[in-house]
Amino acid sequence: MNDAASLDSQSGADLLLFMEDVSVSFDGFKAINNLNFYVNDGELRCVIGPNGAGKSTMMDIITGKTRPDKGVVTFASDINLLELDEPEIALAGIGRKFQKPTVFEALTVFQNLELAVAGDRSPFALWRHGLNPEQRDSIEEVASTVALTDQMDSLAKILSHGQKQWLEIAMLLVQQPRLLLIDEPVAGMTHQEMERTGQLLTDLAGKHTVVVVEHDMEFVRSLNTRVTVLHQGSVLAEGSMASVQNNREVIQVYLGE
Ligand SMILES: Nc1ncnc2c1ncn2[C@@H]1O[C@H](COP(=O)(O)OP(=O)(O)OP(=O)(O)O)[C@@H](O)[C@H]1O
Ligand SMILES: [Mg+2]
Repeated sequence: MNDAASLDSQSGADLLLFMEDVSVSFDGFKAINNLNFYVNDGELRCVIGPNGAGKSTMMDIITGKTRPDKGVVTFASDINLLELDEPEIALAGIGRKFQKPTVFEALTVFQNLELAVAGDRSPFALWRHGLNPEQRDSIEEVASTVALTDQMDSLAKILSHGQKQWLEIAMLLVQQPRLLLIDEPVAGMTHQEMERTGQLLTDLAGKHTVVVVEHDMEFVRSLNTRVTVLHQGSVLAEGSMASVQNNREVIQVYLGE
């Protein structure tokens, strides 16, 4: 078991994300139900759970896309995320990757990263003033992190599915987020791409805090992190993959599907 899996995530003073007693209903259906979720600074955490468990809705709440009916959501000890809108939350240091890659297919890898580094600045300002040396270095460093240095001048549309996912992660990284939320990164990837993604996420932990939602149990096991099992909008179990897999309620939920 590695350190991340053995940490008591509720005890440390180094909590980065704090969610307590959070609920949200859609037409009377409680998608998130008194959820408590805590993530330490620098941690890599996996979130699993059956379809409809509320995993993506939880990410929607953290990023301000969905407002909870009640509860507390705090980031970096004193930032009340419920008072911020989506762009403000992104600026506060939270980046999110949706399941489907949304890179600009007709632009090169470099151009995609250039747009991402510009952030809220308009593309027009970017093209007029160009990148500063710091931004240029950051693009090169991030491209190397996701193994796309050799594809810098390739159009995004010729990248493999896995490479597109990495490009999208890179587009988040150039914004230097403290917290990265990544929804189902390995869906549709080859075995080799999955292995490289696992390595990438492991490397990002420490420098960033990473929350990964994933259905692929083999992949989650390989990450060897603390795992949170969501079910009907609440945490059903939390701990190492081995411990949650032996949890009776977790077994019932997965076998009962
Ligand atoms: N904006 C919304 N309006 C109405 N219902 C919603 C909305 N967002 C989510 N839901 C419902 O909330 C429940 C939780 O959905 P959510 O997408 O969070 O599940 P999930 O755990 O991400 O599932 P999956 O593994 O299939 O991605 C589902 O029943 C879904 O239909
Ligand atoms: Mg989902």
